[in-house]
Amino acid sequence: MAKTGIVTGGGSGLGQSAAVRLAEEGVNIAVVDINKEGGNATVEMVKEAGADAIFIKANVSDPAEVKQYVDKTVDHFGTIDYFFNNAGISGSGKHFLDTEIDEIENIVGINLLGALYGVRYVSEVMLNNGGGSIVNTASSAGVIGQDSVVTYSATKHGIIGLTKSMVAEYAQEGLRVNAIAPGPTETPMVKEFYEANPKMKENATGGIPQKRLGTPEEVAELVAFLLTSKAQYINGEVIRIDGGFTNTK
Ligand SMILES: NC(=O)c1ccc[n+]([C@@H]2O[C@H](COP(=O)([O-])OP(=O)(O)OC[C@H]3O[C@@H](n4cnc5c(N)ncnc54)[C@H](O)[C@@H]3O)[C@@H](O)[C@H]2O)c1
Repeated sequence: MAKTGIVTGGGSGLGQSAAVRLAEEGVNIAVVDINKEGGNATVEMVKEAGADAIFIKANVSDPAEVKQYVDKTVDHFGTIDYFFNNAGISGSGKHFLDTEIDEIENIVGINLLGALYGVRYVSEVMLNNGGGSIVNTASSAGVIGQDSVVTYSATKHGIIGLTKSMVAEYAQEGLRVNAIAPGPTETPMVKEFYEANPKMKENATGGIPQKRLGTPEEVAELVAFLLTSKAQYINGEVIRIDGGFTNTK
């Protein structure tokens, strides 16, 4: 029987690529995003890749909307086998003391609370059905400290704590939870961020041993591997996919 996956932030970048890659494995996808246009585009791409998909508009920072995207997925597909918990924003790249409180709350609300709410409701369904697999999107900034992304970095370090502690609590009940820590990857979010902060792009590429950014397709390959049964004994891991970037820090 076909598996079902939820991909948050599925309307763009890493989420969109992962949705398509999972579809190639025959996984049906609930595409969750605040961006209806991007989400619907992904639904079409998933269908072209041969799987079924629905778009669910939801803001991951609102727990009621998170509960709703989980319920709608179960209503439509019957269960949830895989969860790519990925929606996130980067923030403005300002120095911390120049950052408004609103921006701090927004980044934490989407990146960290949104991820926690997602795991809270999705794993409830998975555990009731005997288990499942989750991949949370952290970042290089979740593994090392970085300039001008203090709040973002705090949320991504939090994602890693969430990942490891869920395993301590629920692995014996059939749950696998891993995190990916991508370095700068060529998605719309990063293009926008580097357009606003060109010096940071120079610094970033220069600091990557492979001297290039990653691609969403490379990250999607890792996500599909971790989510599916090929990675059955990998649990609580944080896999860096960054061209060697954080290993040289
Ligand atoms: N691209 C990179 O270099 C990079 C590196 C490390 C980590 N990440 C992380 O990867 C994830 C995806 O980023 P991306 O680069 O694909 O960005 P992106 O901007 O291309 O895609 C993010 C998607 O999330 C959606 N989104 C934003 N806020 C939302 C909300 N409140 N509710 C629902 N959906 C929301 C956006 O509409 C968008 O479709 C993020 O968590 C990001 O922090 C990205």
